Amino acid sequence: MSISAFIFDLDGVIVDTAKYHYLAWKKLANELGFEFTKDQNELFKGVSRKRCLEILLDIGGVTATQEQFDKWMIEKNEDYLEYIEKMDASEILPDVHKVLDFLKERNIPIALGSASKNARPILKKVNLLTYFDAIVDGNDVTKAKPDPEVFLIAAGKLATAPEKCLVFEDAVAGIQAANNAKMLSIGIGHPDILSEAKYNFNDFTEISIDFLNDLISE
Ligand code: BG6
Ligand code: MG
Repeated sequence: MSISAFIFDLDGVIVDTAKYHYLAWKKLANELGFEFTKDQNELFKGVSRKRCLEILLDIGGVTATQEQFDKWMIEKNEDYLEYIEKMDASEILPDVHKVLDFLKERNIPIALGSASKNARPILKKVNLLTYFDAIVDGNDVTKAKPDPEVFLIAAGKLATAPEKCLVFEDAVAGIQAANNAKMLSIGIGHPDILSEAKYNFNDFTEISIDFLNDLISE
C-alpha cells in the first residue's frame, strides 16, 4: 500500500489515559454538584481540554465566569497530572511495542499527533519518547480534530506526503481528521464507533506483521 510514515494518536491508542481524564473531569463535576458518566466521557475523546470543559458545563447546566472557567481548567489538569505522575511503561497498551519496533527496525518515520498538551511528559513517563521522529501536540495546533492540522504538521515534520501517511486513532474526531488529511485511517477501538476508519482493530494485538508488511509494500 506504499505507506511510508506512521502517525500515532496518544490517549487511547498508546496509553489508556482516558480513564484518568475521566476521573479528573468527574471530580470537578461532582464538586460542581452533578454526575459525569463513563458514557458521557466518550464525547471527550480527541477533544481539546477547553472544549471538554465547555461540554462538561453544558451537561451540568452550569454557567461560568471567565475567571471560574480558567480556574476549573487548571484544577482539572492538576488532578490529571497527579495520575500521570504515577504512570510507567506497564501502562503502554498491548502490542504497541510490537508495532513501534517493527517500524523502528525498518527506519520508517514515526510521529505523534495528539490533542493533548501533556503528550511529552506522558511519553517520557512510559519511556517511549525516543521512538518518535516528530511530536505534534495540543501546544502546536490552532485547530482541533476533526481539522487535519495536527496530522498535516506531523507529515510535514516527517517530510512525507499526506497520502503516504497512516494514522492510528481511537476517536471519531481523530479518524475524521485523518480522512480530511487524505491519510490512511486506522481505528483502534470499537468498529461501530469508528465506522469512518478505513480499517478497524479493537487493539494492536489484532494487527499482524503480515498486515504491517502489506501497508509498507510498494
Ligand atoms: C486528547 C484526549 O488526546 O487530549 C482528550 O483524547 C483530551 O480527552 C485532550 O481532552 C486534551 O488533553 P490535555 O492533556 O491537553 O488536557
Ligand atoms: Mg485518542
